[in-house]
Amino acid sequence: MAIPRETVEQILQAAHIEEVVGEFVTLKKRGSNMWGNCPFHNEKTPSFSVNPARNIFKCFGCGKAGDSAKFLMEHEHFSYPEALRYLAKKYNIKIEEKEQTAEEIMQQSIREKMFNINEFADKYFVDTLWNTDEGKTIGLQYFRERGYFDPIIQKFHLGYSPAQWDAFTEHAKKNGYSDELLEQIGLSIKGQKGLYDRYHGRVMFPIHSLTGRVIGFGGRILTNDKKSPKYQNSPESEIYDKKQTLYGIYFAKNAIARQDECILVEGYFDVLRMHQIGIENVVASSGTSLTMEQIRLVKRYTKNITMLYDGDAAGIHAALRGTDMILSEGMNVRVVVLPPEHDPDTFGKEFSVDYVSNYLKDNAKDFVRFKTELLLKDAQNDPIKRGQVIRDIVETISVIPDSIFRITYVKECSRLLDMPEQTLTNELNKILRAKLKKSLGVDENVVTEPETTTTMPKQEETIEDQLPAGYYQERELVKLLLLYGSKLITDERIDEDGQKISEQVTVAQFIIDDLKNDGFVFTNAVNRKVFDIFDRAIDEGRIPDDSFFVSHEDETIAQLAADLLSSPYKLDQWEKYGIFVKREEDVLKATMLSSIYRYKDLIIEDRRKAVEEELKTTTDSDDQLILMKRMKDLDDIRKQINKELGIVIAK
Ligand code: CTP
Ligand code: MN
Repeated sequence: MAIPRETVEQILQAAHIEEVVGEFVTLKKRGSNMWGNCPFHNEKTPSFSVNPARNIFKCFGCGKAGDSAKFLMEHEHFSYPEALRYLAKKYNIKIEEKEQTAEEIMQQSIREKMFNINEFADKYFVDTLWNTDEGKTIGLQYFRERGYFDPIIQKFHLGYSPAQWDAFTEHAKKNGYSDELLEQIGLSIKGQKGLYDRYHGRVMFPIHSLTGRVIGFGGRILTNDKKSPKYQNSPESEIYDKKQTLYGIYFAKNAIARQDECILVEGYFDVLRMHQIGIENVVASSGTSLTMEQIRLVKRYTKNITMLYDGDAAGIHAALRGTDMILSEGMNVRVVVLPPEHDPDTFGKEFSVDYVSNYLKDNAKDFVRFKTELLLKDAQNDPIKRGQVIRDIVETISVIPDSIFRITYVKECSRLLDMPEQTLTNELNKILRAKLKKSLGVDENVVTEPETTTTMPKQEETIEDQLPAGYYQERELVKLLLLYGSKLITDERIDEDGQKISEQVTVAQFIIDDLKNDGFVFTNAVNRKVFDIFDRAIDEGRIPDDSFFVSHEDETIAQLAADLLSSPYKLDQWEKYGIFVKREEDVLKATMLSSIYRYKDLIIEDRRKAVEEELKTTTDSDDQLILMKRMKDLDDIRKQINKELGIVIAK
């Protein structure tokens, strides 16, 4: 269903970009912008900026840019309407919802339907746990016996799915959910006798997205039936990507940012227990090995990960897995191993929060040290194994991006391994050199595309020659249009009768008219679109503002606007220092004129070059004369342009 245009505008105006982005990225204020690590690519130093004044974000590393809606579409994979609805909810703006017709229900995106049915199922499981005899005596009883209190059961929306073969499926069908959807989302399974529940007689854990929507479920069996797996989990779907998901992140993200540390555990119950005793910066990898995506998810909030694993061999093995990946992201990894008989759940049940906190503090070992000590124990008196351990450790150190840390670790390992530092350094350098070679081989093939990458001058210099003439000047003019299109300047001309005319016009009108009169057309397709929009708007007597372009439905226009508006501009400086305000109009006018002249000059120069080339290959003497005349004309125009440019600059 379409959201009315006015409401869309209302929503986009109400949305504060720093608040929308701030839910997902830790931002720090620096100057007039806010900065953080880009959630869209891997980086060590923040190049992701948020500009509250213009209400846009932009990453100077990967080039992603746009308004609040765009951010949510990129980050949460929302559709445009989904993003608007999210913002409307956040800012308490009512979207006039009319009664949905059958057709509209059909058209509702599949993702919306999936979120919808999961929410429905979530309610059903919770309701069954608290309000049915079976739920209370079996499900609720189970949680309570394991030492869980009602508040935590409620907070995590824990539920119960009845033992009856198709209890939920029937309930959902009665409420209008289709067989197809039930099967797609994985709540039901198709058997020979028809559709039946995926979960029966299990306690239910809804899995939440970063924004708190239910994307899947895990259900734990309550019997010792060895034929069924302990956990049944939702299959992946359009809304559930396991490698991007961490159980508990929605409930933990604020605590993680606040404490600048994320505790990583393995199981659903481990997360519950930690929360119950008041340690809330905890998420679970749900028993699988960690993925890069999960690590980046954590990295949005902190660079410090503490892995808290069972004290048995399997737990220690799990701790070793995936850690090189975390280190290579430039994160600090520490490991806490529990006493052999415990996992975080039982440990938290047995001891007080103070004891647990102190245990974590006292036993956290940085990962390189943990690995070294562990491997060394195995290889104590075996020289061959020892050699292997050394290579293994050095390999791990080599993935750490920061050289200062690498040096520190080499020193520490040299002490632990009782080996000369130089031997380890040599080994390390060998690995690093091999890696560098490999990465250079790949990098040489990277081609930079001028249109999609951002205006990082260093990158662009190398491709300067391939860019169309006046590329930067064209962009400059578009930027002037976007930033100052509606500002007034005084246009002074001498008309045909020799009279001096002085007239107030907008910057947009001046630029558009001037270029049009002299027959200049932007070569870049997107710039051209912006030009045309202004041209039409001026005819209609209005000037669109920058937010119109940033939120434009044409992706390429929105991207360009966000790009241009994010990079600093000379005039911004003048504006900032009040002293120049008096002269602002003059400064603006001079900037505008010089931009126009420079642009024209480059285009004419380019045309002259083309004519010159043509002249070289022309043998016909008439044609030669025509071409030479053209060249002279172009030279005259350039002279004129440069004269005017000179006047502007001298002023
Ligand atoms: N897991 C799973 N499927 C299984 C076993 C485990 O998906 N058959 C995942 C679950 O996310 C589980 C995690 O791996 O939470 C850790 O497994 P485990 O330690 O066996 O489960 P706990 O959650 O600790 O459950 P319990 O304490 O009840 O044994
Ligand atoms: Mn457990």
